[in-house]
Formats: sequence, C-alpha cells, structure tokens
Amino acid sequence: MPTISEGPPATISLRLAHDAYTVLVDSDILSRAAQLTQAWTELSAKAAALVTDSNVAPLYAEGVRTSLESAGFRVTTIIVPAGESSKSMAQVASICGQMLRAGLDRKSVLFALGGGVVGDLAGFAAAIFQRGIPCIQIPTTIVSQVDSSVGGKTGVNTAEGKNLLGAFHQPRLVLADVNTLATLPDREFNEGFAEIIKHAAIRDASLLDLAEDRASIRSHLVELIARNVAIKATIVEEDERETSGTRALLNFGHTLGHGIEAAGGYGRFLHGEAISLGLVAAVHLSVEKAGLSAEEANRIIQSLKIWDLPTILPDDVSDEDILAAMERDKKFDAGQIRFVLIRSLGDAFVSDAINRDDLARTLIGLRE
Ligand code: NAD
Ligand code: GLY
Repeated sequence: MPTISEGPPATISLRLAHDAYTVLVDSDILSRAAQLTQAWTELSAKAAALVTDSNVAPLYAEGVRTSLESAGFRVTTIIVPAGESSKSMAQVASICGQMLRAGLDRKSVLFALGGGVVGDLAGFAAAIFQRGIPCIQIPTTIVSQVDSSVGGKTGVNTAEGKNLLGAFHQPRLVLADVNTLATLPDREFNEGFAEIIKHAAIRDASLLDLAEDRASIRSHLVELIARNVAIKATIVEEDERETSGTRALLNFGHTLGHGIEAAGGYGRFLHGEAISLGLVAAVHLSVEKAGLSAEEANRIIQSLKIWDLPTILPDDVSDEDILAAMERDKKFDAGQIRFVLIRSLGDAFVSDAINRDDLARTLIGLRE
C-alpha cells in the first residue's frame, strides 16, 4: 500500500520494483515547484525542459519557470499546440530536437506542465531522450491529477489508434496543484468526474458521496484529488506493468469508451465524456453478467448525470464505427474480449464472458 499523509500537502508515496516517488497534492504548488523538487527528489540537474501546451503556457508556465530559475535551473520552455493531435511521434521528435538544440543532455530533467496530453507526450519524450531522463509531472486537469500523471504510462497515438506507441517511465515526482483547476472550462472540469466515478466504482464506494456533492466540491479538491491518487497508486503498486490483471481494472468503462471516442473522431466527445458512455455500457453489462444490483447501477449513472456527462449515445454515432475502432484498440480473442465488470460498488474483476454480440446489444441499450 502507498504511504498516505493528509498534509498539507497531502502526500501519497509509491514504492515500485525499481522506482519510488511521491505525489504532492495542495493548493499553490506551482510557485514552489523548484523548492518541492529539491525537497522530495535527489535530482542534481541544473538544466530543465519545461514542456507545456498553448492553453496552459499563458496561464502557468511563467510561474513554474520563475520558481525553477530562482533555484538555479536553466530552463528551456517548449510549447506544443493544445489538443489530442499533439500526442504524435512528430511532436516527440520536435520536443527532443528543441531539447538537443538547447544543449540539454542526459543529466537534464523534464517538467511536464499540463493535462494528460502533455503528460503522456512529454513523459514519452523524457523516456527516450538520451535513453531516458527524469520527468516531473505537473498535472493541471482533473484527468491528469487523478489518473494520467501517476503510474508511468507515457505515449502517443498513431493513425492506427490511441496510445499505440509508448513506454513505462515513472515520474520522479508529481506536483498536483488544485488551484490550476479553477481555470479549466466547465466542460473539461466535469469530464474529469468520469475517471473519479470509475475509481469509486472499482475500488471505493464511499468516494461517490464526495464526488456527488457538486455544490461544495470546489472546497474539497485536495481531499478529492488525494483520495483518487491513493486509489490509482494502490493499483499501480499492485500491478505496475499490468501483468496480473489488477491494473486492467482501471479500464472499467474504457473498452467501449475508447471506441466511442474514436468513432466521434476525437473531436465530438471529450475523453471523459466518451468514458461516461463506456461506463454506462459497462454498468449495463455488469447488471446482466455479474449480478450488479439495479440500485447501484442507477447510482453510478446518476453520479455521471450530476456532472452533465452523457449517458445516452447519440443516434448518428454508428455501432459499426465504435466496434471497428474498439477492435483496433483491444483485440478480440476467439470472438471474446477481456472486459472489466463490477459485482457491486468497489468490487471489480476482469471477465472473459463478454463477446461481440454482447457489446453490440449493449450499444443498442445505450441509445434508449
Ligand atoms: P488535455 O491534456 O487535452 O487537457 C484538456 C484541455 O484543457 C486542453 O485544451 C488543455 O490545453 C486545457 N487545459 C489543461 N489544463 C488547464 C487548466 N488548468 N486551465 C485551463 N485549461 C487547461 O486532456 P486531459 O483530459 O487532461 O487528458 C486526456 C489525455 O490523457 C488523453 O490523451 C488520454 O489518453 C490521456 N490519459 C492517459 C492516462 C495514462 O495513464 N497515461 C490516463 C488517462 C488519460
Ligand atoms: N489509466 C490506466 C492506467 O494507468 O493503467
């Protein structure tokens, strides 16, 4: 189990086979980025790449840069266009090229400031730059604070599908500043709750009480993020490389969710919105195949609605497109797929009992 302290800052420390690091959750962390890096890591780097995107840069890059420079870092800021299309090998090459031309080397450190796109992209650049340099994740969205910055999965998309190229590269430190969530547009704030509700569904039913309290959630962001990081950290500690099946539980709602995201052309639905629809489908299948009670199924669906997340699939997103995208993403084996179901809130497992017909039938139910 990770070591957890309520803080402030709230700290969650992971101990993995070859890595150990801490996630710090607090308000006003960005201005202390250098000080916290020095306090919580043993890095001696003096040259840093600060990778961020075009939306986050004007809001937060200067504050982080000032903190790093005042601690003696020589900082090269690299800004990629905001959006999923930046998760590409072309952007990885561009980032690495800018780092090389700025004289960064294998003793340098990379700070990834932004949402999951920046974290995955810059984390992958750090994994391969000069065969790997330390990466510090500074996530600025709910999705990235509760999920993508923790656990070391980095990578990019290809024309063939999402996250198909990548590497495990654990961060040296994660700095989650909940103040950054104040500038997220409502739609991006709300989509993060799909991953939070997923965490509650697979591991911690009591988290739903907090996640459903939309009226006062902004006063409880440190607790909300820290509890979710603790769930993610526990699962990563149990199954770092997704070999035992435990880490695969994090895919609850993602099998069809990724198909829906792709069928929408990666522009129609935000990631969390597609996952919301995938969660509803997974809940229906859990009722049918795993004995989930109608009451608990309904509670999960109501929680998604509280955050204005979609629970009905629009008619013009075709089943064929969703299933084709899903087949590219997750391979069927003899007509079956490993699919995450829940028996009750907090009790998830990987099932081999779901086939293509089940998924097609569930998609019909998702339109009603
Ligand atoms: P994102 O990084 O695209 O951020 C969403 C939008 O918000 C972007 O336009 C971004 O510029 C903007 N933004 C970010 N922080 C902001 C802030 N504080 N204020 C204002 N605007 C801000 O998307 P995301 O939802 O954070 O992450 C989705 C990505 O994460 C996907 O690529 C997904 O595959 C990946 N992901 C990875 C993992 C993993 O384990 N590695 C887990 C979950 C998701
Ligand atoms: N977000 C899924 C994982 O980290 O395994």
